[in-house]
Amino acid sequence: MDFHGNSVHQVGFRNRRVIEAIVAQMEALPFCTRRFTNLPAIKLARKLAELAPGDLNKVLFVPGGTEAIGMALKLARAATGRFKTISMWDSFHGASLDAISVGGEAIFRSGIGPLLSGTEHVPPPDPSHCPWSCGQECTLQCARYIEYILEKEGDVGAVIAETVRSTPYIPPPEYWQIIRSACDRHGALLILDEIPNCLGRTGKMFACQHYGVVPDMLVIGKGLGGGIFPLAALIAREGLDIMGDRALGHYTHEKNPVACAAGLATIACLEEEGLLDNARRMGEHALERLKALGEKHEIIGSVRGLGLLLGVELVRDRKTRERAVEEAERVMYCALAKGLSFKLTMGNVIQLTPPLTISHDEMDAALDILDDCLPTCATSSSS
Ligand SMILES: Cc1ncc(COP(=O)(O)O)c(C=O)c1O
Repeated sequence: MDFHGNSVHQVGFRNRRVIEAIVAQMEALPFCTRRFTNLPAIKLARKLAELAPGDLNKVLFVPGGTEAIGMALKLARAATGRFKTISMWDSFHGASLDAISVGGEAIFRSGIGPLLSGTEHVPPPDPSHCPWSCGQECTLQCARYIEYILEKEGDVGAVIAETVRSTPYIPPPEYWQIIRSACDRHGALLILDEIPNCLGRTGKMFACQHYGVVPDMLVIGKGLGGGIFPLAALIAREGLDIMGDRALGHYTHEKNPVACAAGLATIACLEEEGLLDNARRMGEHALERLKALGEKHEIIGSVRGLGLLLGVELVRDRKTRERAVEEAERVMYCALAKGLSFKLTMGNVIQLTPPLTISHDEMDAALDILDDCLPTCATSSSS
C-alpha cells in the first residue's frame, strides 16, 4: 500500500480512464509545436479556471512544479516591480536555484553559494517548534510576524508558501486571512504552492478553499498528470495577465496535449467518482483512529490531518517535543516489511497520503500495520 506516491496518485496507479485518455490523445496529437495551441490544453485551462476560486482564471502549463514556481516568482517581479519575497523555513518549492532560494530546507540550500537576494524567511505555523512557544495550538503570532516584515521592508513583492504542508503544518482558519489582508495592505502578492496537496488531497479541490482565501497565484502540479505524466500549472488572477509581449514560460513540453488529456481525465475521475467526498470521509475515519493510537502509544506527540493529508508526529518526550527521528525510521522500515510505504517528513513525522480511491478496509489495514509497528520502535529506542 503506497501512502507516499510522491503525491501524484490522487486517482491511484494505472487509472483506466487516465490511460485511455492518454492513448487516445497519443493517436490524435501526441505533441504540440510551441507556435500552436491544442484542444486538450484549452479545455484543461478552462476547467481549472472554472474550479479555482475567485478570479483565478489565467493558466500556464509546464512539465514540472519547480518551473511553475519559477514562473510565479518572475510574474510577481514583473507585476509589482519588486524582487523581495517572504517564504517559510522548512518549506520546499522545488530544486532549482530560484526555488531553493525561497525554500527553507538546509539540505537543498547549503553549500551552493549565493542564492537569490531579497528572500526573507519566517517560521512556519508549527506549534510544536514555534519560536514564540505558542504550545499545541497556533496563536497566530507567526502570521502577525509576516505582517510586521511586510511593513518594515515596505517593498516585498510576494509572500510564497504552501497552503498546508505535510502535517504538522495545517494552520488555523484565520492564518491565511491575516496574511491575505496583510499582503493587500502592503502591495505584496500572495502565491500559494499547492503542488502536492491540490486536486482533492485535503477533501476540497484546492486547499485554499478551506480558508476562504483567494491567492493572486495558485501553483499546482504532481497529481495533475494523473500519476503518469509530468504536468504542473500556474493559475493567476485575471489582472496578472501582463506579460503577453514577453516569455514567462517557454518550456519544450509546456501544454503538452497528452499531459493535458491526462489532466482532464484525472479531474473527471475526481468529480464523477466522488473522490473528494471519499477523501473527506476516509480522512475523518483515519484521524479518529490515529487519535486513538495517540492515547495508546506514548511516542505519538501529535496527530493532524486534513482530508487524506495525514501526519503522526513522533516525539521522545511529550513535554520537550524532542524529535524521535531514529524511532520514526524504525517504524517506517517495520511498516515497509509489512506492506505499507509512507514518507517521513522533518525526520520524525509519519506522513500518510494514500490515493483518494482508498477503501475503508484498506485504510484500516494500513493503520493496523502502524499500530503493530509503533511498540517495536518504542522498545528498540529504550534498549
Ligand atoms: C510543495 C512543493 N512545491 C514544489 C515542488 C516541486 O515540484 P516538481 O518536483 O514537480 O518540480 C514539490 C515537489 O515535491 C513540492 O512538494
